[in-house]
Amino acid sequence: MSDETPRPPRRKRYGGKNPRRFEDKYKEHDPARYGETIAKVIASGKTPAGSHIPILVAEVLEALQLKFGMTGVDATLGYGGHAAKILEKIGPTGNLVGLDMDPLEISKTEARLRGLGFGVECFEAVRSNYAGIAKVLEERGTHEVDFIFADLGCSSMQFDDPARGFSYKSVGPLDMRMNPSRGLTAAEWLVRASVEKLETALHLNADEPRAESIAVALAGHRFANTTSLAQAIRESVRVSDEDERELTVRRVFQAIRIAVNEEFTALEAFLRVLPKCLKPGGRAAILTFHSGEDRRVKQAMRQGVRDGIFFEMSEGATVAGPEERRMNPRSSSAKLRWVTRA
Ligand SMILES: C[S@@+](CC[C@H](N)C(=O)[O-])C[C@H]1O[C@@H](n2cnc3c(N)ncnc32)[C@H](O)[C@@H]1O
Repeated sequence: MSDETPRPPRRKRYGGKNPRRFEDKYKEHDPARYGETIAKVIASGKTPAGSHIPILVAEVLEALQLKFGMTGVDATLGYGGHAAKILEKIGPTGNLVGLDMDPLEISKTEARLRGLGFGVECFEAVRSNYAGIAKVLEERGTHEVDFIFADLGCSSMQFDDPARGFSYKSVGPLDMRMNPSRGLTAAEWLVRASVEKLETALHLNADEPRAESIAVALAGHRFANTTSLAQAIRESVRVSDEDERELTVRRVFQAIRIAVNEEFTALEAFLRVLPKCLKPGGRAAILTFHSGEDRRVKQAMRQGVRDGIFFEMSEGATVAGPEERRMNPRSSSAKLRWVTRA
């Protein structure tokens, strides 16, 4: 190369041996090239940056009773971990529609699944809220499918990317929207929230025991970023136990995220239309991660059994075993329930 030849721009270096910032973990963002690094990260009980480890995979596949040629919906496509396993089970003659409301991740996931060999004949990714599942199926001329799966909440890609504003552990814009092109950011939601509205959200969305005092401290305030909100929460909680203070921050973030994304409204709408989207004998399986989700799923399934809409329901909830919990701490709060359409 002569002196005049422009050199390609170099990747910005991070200081130190082990990158800490999400954007510096370039090896984890490129699993195809750095498989060994990814395996080491997973073995250490962490989720590689920009990916998501699917939870209770064998149990989900078993619950859905998948067979070659079946049609179904993965209502929460995420990274496509469950979807890839489902697609293997239903084979090239089967068909899976994957829904996700996150426009930033869905195209990457679609490309990843195509790269694994799942073509348009067996898989379609659709950007949609799962509350609209009936309309998505109607538009495709398939009113009923053999199975429906949902893995509720956020993906690790959303939680771990500071730019999405879900995490109190790193500084980022106070956003928290799974679909950033719709609705209020968490910062805007908090500025507009009355003390009563925030207190109710803290109670209903996260069973927060100090809802009243936290709501008085936060409602109507504008916070510059995720860490300034986290600090304000810590200052509003008068407890000496540091672990309890951090758990409070986590619960408050969860409550605000659920409110910003109207998660319970969407879940209730999804549970209402679910039966009419399933063929007789069809299975629905749902993974939940906290009491607000699990209560709604359990009640809807039980009511459906009482009304004769479902003829069978899982006995209790399936949870992750100790090995899965160790390898993937995010599986610790997961509960899996299923029903069969009458
Ligand atoms: C836990 S992740 C799913 C992970 C996925 N099972 C996997 O193996 O990669 C949940 C996903 O559901 C999406 N999601 C959450 N609420 C939704 C809704 N109401 N409608 C559609 N997608 C939703 C999120 O954007 C996220 O990508």
